Amino acid sequence: MSVAYLNGEFLTLEHATVPVLDRGFLFGDGVYEVIPVYAGKTFRFSSHISRLHKSLSAILMNFELPESDWLALCEGLIERNEFENASIYLQVTRGSYIDRHHDIPTLGEPTVFAMISPLPPVQKDWQASDIKSYSVITEDDIRWQRCDIKAITLLANCMLKQKALESGADDTILVRNGEASEATSSNLFIVRDGVIITPPLSEHLLAGVTREFILTLAQRHGIPFEERAIPEHELELADEIWLTSSTKEIRPVIKVNDVTIGDGVAGPVWRQMYQYYQELKEQLYLGEISGGAV
Ligand code: PDD
Repeated sequence: MSVAYLNGEFLTLEHATVPVLDRGFLFGDGVYEVIPVYAGKTFRFSSHISRLHKSLSAILMNFELPESDWLALCEGLIERNEFENASIYLQVTRGSYIDRHHDIPTLGEPTVFAMISPLPPVQKDWQASDIKSYSVITEDDIRWQRCDIKAITLLANCMLKQKALESGADDTILVRNGEASEATSSNLFIVRDGVIITPPLSEHLLAGVTREFILTLAQRHGIPFEERAIPEHELELADEIWLTSSTKEIRPVIKVNDVTIGDGVAGPVWRQMYQYYQELKEQLYLGEISGGAV
């Protein structure tokens, strides 16, 4: 059983329990982050903590810790568990109050919880066939209007993902007002004529840390990119489609609603971007760069 963190204490995951009056349990009143760890070092840590603080402020929770405190918490988890490569789930809810009512209470202690789970090892000589390609369906986005907040209320995301699984696909790309925004737990990219395209940031999608990093890598390596709306019908015309997140990294999508994308295999721009991503992980692994540098 792995060691988790709850309100100032490290304890085995099975002993980490919260009161039923916690507003996270009653209202889904909380936010979270998922932070990757490679070779025992956090990846893109500052970006995750800055998004956590933004989410807290967006739900009117006046709670911020110095980044060094969050890092000490995460390093405490890394040290106490034996995973070299892992993802840390970090959740903050508004805490417990004696009555259940909809008014947002201003006093009180938040509940801070974190746990860690293993990720596959960093692979130096990877083949495209090692990476699972996805087939996806499209569905109307039935989530709320503030998908930029990384809220723990994920029921709509789970239902939309389940629809994909029940139709034999891996995930669902969400469509609002005729535009594809993201998938149930990842951001969306398409490639057309060598140009990487991703929808612009808005309240309809999460500002993914991986999304931002891919745009940085594209800029660094001179790959053209655009942030613009992607009409749903454009998905089928794309040469490549990718889904990106901290745990999935960059996943090629080879089918949308049973239509084959490109040649039906992971494409050349994906291959290049994936290579850049893995090179950085490997440098981190070899200690050539620090977790703070990427
Ligand atoms: N999900 N969009 C949604 C709706 C997400 O839930 C996520 C991440 C992303 C990608 O964000 P990032 O690149 O910062 O991981 C986009 C996490 C991994 C999860 O819920 O497990």
